[in-house]
Amino acid sequence: MDEDIAEILFTEEKIASIVRNMGRQISEDYRGKNLFMVSVLKGSLIFMADLMRAIDIPCSIDFLSVSSYGNGTVSSGEVRILKDLDSSLEGKDLLIVEDILDSGATLSFLLKNLEARRPASIRLCTFLDKPERRKVEIHPDYVGAEVPDKFIVGYGLDYAEKYRNLPYIGVLKPEIYV
Ligand code: IMP
Ligand code: MG
Repeated sequence: MDEDIAEILFTEEKIASIVRNMGRQISEDYRGKNLFMVSVLKGSLIFMADLMRAIDIPCSIDFLSVSSYGNGTVSSGEVRILKDLDSSLEGKDLLIVEDILDSGATLSFLLKNLEARRPASIRLCTFLDKPERRKVEIHPDYVGAEVPDKFIVGYGLDYAEKYRNLPYIGVLKPEIYV
């Protein structure tokens, strides 16, 4: 897989240090609250697993999955829930955990949908942010790092379901997807 990567953006060590800091901040902010982390599958799976272990206050978790890009690299802008949460959000301090914020379509859809279920509070946490690509105004509460407008894989992020298991984050060579 390494030969398909044009450039490494974040090494394993760098990722670990970013996640540690995010976990520390979230632990401080949610002390005494009813932290409920919701991972948006499949991309945020690995980040979620690391982040929750960097959090030292009680928390519970759930997963949902939304329609993805298919095998393309550009969002259709249309979002559907494919797998919904197992439990109710009422009274919970909801933290949505995403891998990457791109156009903003996914998270703005999820915010509206999940807000309607009356959680006590709702915040967004994304490991990566690609601000140049934003189409919908959305302000994440926790961001690990900003990335340039390039197609990124690794650490859970895929291209056509591949590369999720790369331990680092890199830019995919454009010739792989054109
Ligand atoms: P948005 O709805 O356009 O903000 O897209 C968010 C989703 O698209 C993310 O949760 C990712 O699954 C996927 N995505 C966006 N950019 C990339 C990328 O560079 N690499 C891999 N997946 C991406
Ligand atoms: Mg995702």
